[in-house]
Amino acid sequence: MKKYNYEYFASCPSGLEDLLAKEIADLGAKTTVVVRGGVQFEGPHEVALKAILHSRLASRIFKFLFQFEVSNENDYYLQATDIKWKSLMDLEHTFRLTTIFGDLPFERDEFRNSQFANLKLKDAIVDYFRHHEGIRPSVEKDYPDVSFLARIDRGQAKPYLATIMYDLCGDSLNQRGYRVAKIEAPVKENVAAGILKLVNWTPETEDFIDGMCGSGTFVIEAALIAGGIAPSYLKVEKYLFGSGQKQWTFLNYPWLTKDEELKTQFKAMLKEISESTANGIEKLRQMKGRIAGNDISEMSLISARENLKKAKLDHVIELSHVDARILNPNKNKTLFLCNPPYGERLEHGEDEKLKALYKGLGDHWKHNYKGHRAALFTGNLPMLKVVGLKTSKKHILFNGDIECRVAEYNLY
Ligand SMILES: C[S@@+](CC[C@H](N)C(=O)[O-])C[C@H]1O[C@@H](n2cnc3c(N)ncnc32)[C@H](O)[C@@H]1O
Repeated sequence: MKKYNYEYFASCPSGLEDLLAKEIADLGAKTTVVVRGGVQFEGPHEVALKAILHSRLASRIFKFLFQFEVSNENDYYLQATDIKWKSLMDLEHTFRLTTIFGDLPFERDEFRNSQFANLKLKDAIVDYFRHHEGIRPSVEKDYPDVSFLARIDRGQAKPYLATIMYDLCGDSLNQRGYRVAKIEAPVKENVAAGILKLVNWTPETEDFIDGMCGSGTFVIEAALIAGGIAPSYLKVEKYLFGSGQKQWTFLNYPWLTKDEELKTQFKAMLKEISESTANGIEKLRQMKGRIAGNDISEMSLISARENLKKAKLDHVIELSHVDARILNPNKNKTLFLCNPPYGERLEHGEDEKLKALYKGLGDHWKHNYKGHRAALFTGNLPMLKVVGLKTSKKHILFNGDIECRVAEYNLY
């Protein structure tokens, strides 16, 4: 049983890997290696903590624990009972286990599906504790004390390679804590932050308007970037005021609890985030009017208002209620972004309405946004042609399972 080549793995929506590698390198990682869906990295342990607290793009951070080759499900179970689980979790800890399959041969009898592999590993953990301690730990889906990820890939000496990791996060990192109100198709928080980075939005030189803000994800992420506020700020506050013990599983791992230096570094990081949040919100007050949201639906605006309030940004971001096809840009140079409906559940006649929406936006930008920039984020790829404007850049990005495009327009 060997250890992985790299100590940590940060996962992210596919399309953001290069930006995530840069973000993690900027946080102090010595080595970063981009793979599909994330970045492997190496560095002092505090970099993993910094990534949990400061990464705007990562979905989760994992620490590699073990890697071993196996022939089949039974071999997997037997080898997994040899792992000293007691050194990774206490008996009174509840745990969660997730198994994913990498690129495996389609025809295979030895590993049927990820749920069954998950069950095998769970049995191995439970049987290990029963055998050594006479009692078994409990499984907990929502707020476990300890969370493991197992991944099965193709092996070399044996047909399969199993990798076991600690999930250091617990709640995924895109759950910033401000989304109290939902609408039908919100974009994930790290996808929104990633898009702002992909289109290279710089708050110092451009205002930002989300013309179809829905529940407010883009305007909130834009404000956090502009104010230099860590994406974990609400979780940090919750932890410091005593009700956030369950949001980060790493708090229970010997990885942290047995490392006094790391614990001291963690406390210093929390203090720094708490102080810089107050400064960031003050900075944003002075920028009032330069980040704004708009939507045609009153229901969407109600959700956006609730989320802005929870994010403590309701005093700094203005919302308006007009059709994006008549919304004026700010006087300053503006990045005008829209994440229009994709029209997944198209009813009769909806296609024409959607075309009118995308074309209307293109026409409006062409005539009224000269000197500004625009960006569209959509999962409806044929609609991009309907916009009728020449894109300056296009990026492929996955929002969950949906392959989307971010199209950028320089408007002259
Ligand atoms: C896919 S959702 C946006 C989701 C948003 N990015 C979020 O994270 O919550 C599309 C939004 O576009 C709005 N919308 C549709 N047509 C519009 C129009 N003509 N002008 C302004 N908003 C519009 C809808 O009300 C909806 O809130």
